[in-house]
Amino acid sequence: MAPINQAAWLHKAGTELQVGDAPLPTAGPDEIVIRNAAIAINPVDCHMQKAGVFVQQWPAIFGCDVAGIVYEVGSNITRFNVGDHVIGHTINLISGRPKDGAFALFTTVPANKAAILPATISFTDGVVVPFALEAAICALSVTEPGTALPGVSTPALGLPYPSLEPVPSGKVIVVNGASSSVGSMVTQLATAGGIMVIGVTSARNAELARTCGAAEVFDYRDSSFVEKVVKAVVNSKLEFVGVVDSVSTGETYPNDLLILKKLSGGHLSCTHPPPTEVPENVKAGMIFAVNDVATPVWEDYVTKALQAGKLKCLPPPTVIGRGLEYIHGALEKCEAGVSAAKLVVEV
Ligand SMILES: NC(=O)c1ccc[n+]([C@@H]2O[C@H](COP(=O)([O-])OP(=O)(O)OC[C@H]3O[C@@H](n4cnc5c(N)ncnc54)[C@H](OP(=O)(O)O)[C@@H]3O)[C@@H](O)[C@H]2O)c1
Repeated sequence: MAPINQAAWLHKAGTELQVGDAPLPTAGPDEIVIRNAAIAINPVDCHMQKAGVFVQQWPAIFGCDVAGIVYEVGSNITRFNVGDHVIGHTINLISGRPKDGAFALFTTVPANKAAILPATISFTDGVVVPFALEAAICALSVTEPGTALPGVSTPALGLPYPSLEPVPSGKVIVVNGASSSVGSMVTQLATAGGIMVIGVTSARNAELARTCGAAEVFDYRDSSFVEKVVKAVVNSKLEFVGVVDSVSTGETYPNDLLILKKLSGGHLSCTHPPPTEVPENVKAGMIFAVNDVATPVWEDYVTKALQAGKLKCLPPPTVIGRGLEYIHGALEKCEAGVSAAKLVVEV
């Protein structure tokens, strides 16, 4: 007998998610269906719940990160089998289809946005990786600017993909917000691409950024941190590429621009629309974290790197509860803000 699917549905923007039955998804030719074991919460989910941003179809099932067991594979799939333990980046954000939302027991995932999870890693740990990984690749490795939002282009830093055996690229970047999910993953993947990272975090999270590979870390609450970051870049004697700002707020942008000014310009890779006024020598863009640029990383890097301990499941998960009914509370906690943690609901 087919299993029963359930989901945490959003019926109207600004209302509480309601757990109820949902159709059991079926896999398209290039998709897999996952029986989820863990789901992670991302800030974009809060915007979707509160304001209905990106929702194309009501009622909606959304959410971007899943880990679980493959339940069905599409007809073109050779990389996965039923029963495999996997992590995946779900794409309801662009497809609008409820079956592509993470907040359910069963979810459809494009096979090129999934990877086998090594047996040594729990679903709860593994689920912190997918969306942040794709966002990080979009921040680092896009080669031609595309469109993030109408009138807002994507950054195109064109940096190398991560590798199990990184070759020094001779380049250095600054990662502002290196303890966030996106920033810590940018730090890990840039380091694995042979790029030196200078990180910016609160003092208590400096160690996390170092664990992710940052060569030096500075506290954004230190009044002279901009000068220290600039000095570290200059002292590296490497080619300065730019700033990846994973926080991208009115608080971070003035410091990003100051760093760029003192280092004669470069890229400013943002997670939100960049500042409206930037000097001519600054190329600013906003990532849109659903992009096939990440496919080679999903297919060739993620599983081997997790297996080798070269890709770490950071920031660590904070489990909010077990069951879809915990997702709404997890969204509220995410909205209130986290520090070097990924909120996870087990199902
Ligand atoms: N455009 C896209 O496609 C896309 C994709 C993914 C995410 N995003 C956006 O990117 C942002 C980050 O997402 P996330 O999941 O990485 O968030 P997150 O993990 O929830 O971010 C929390 C972190 O932000 C850090 N932070 C807060 N204020 C800071 C400041 N002034 N300077 C430096 N760090 C600061 C905190 O560091 P401390 O605790 O050390 O203070 C904390 O660890 C969100 O706004 C999200 O919506 C956009």
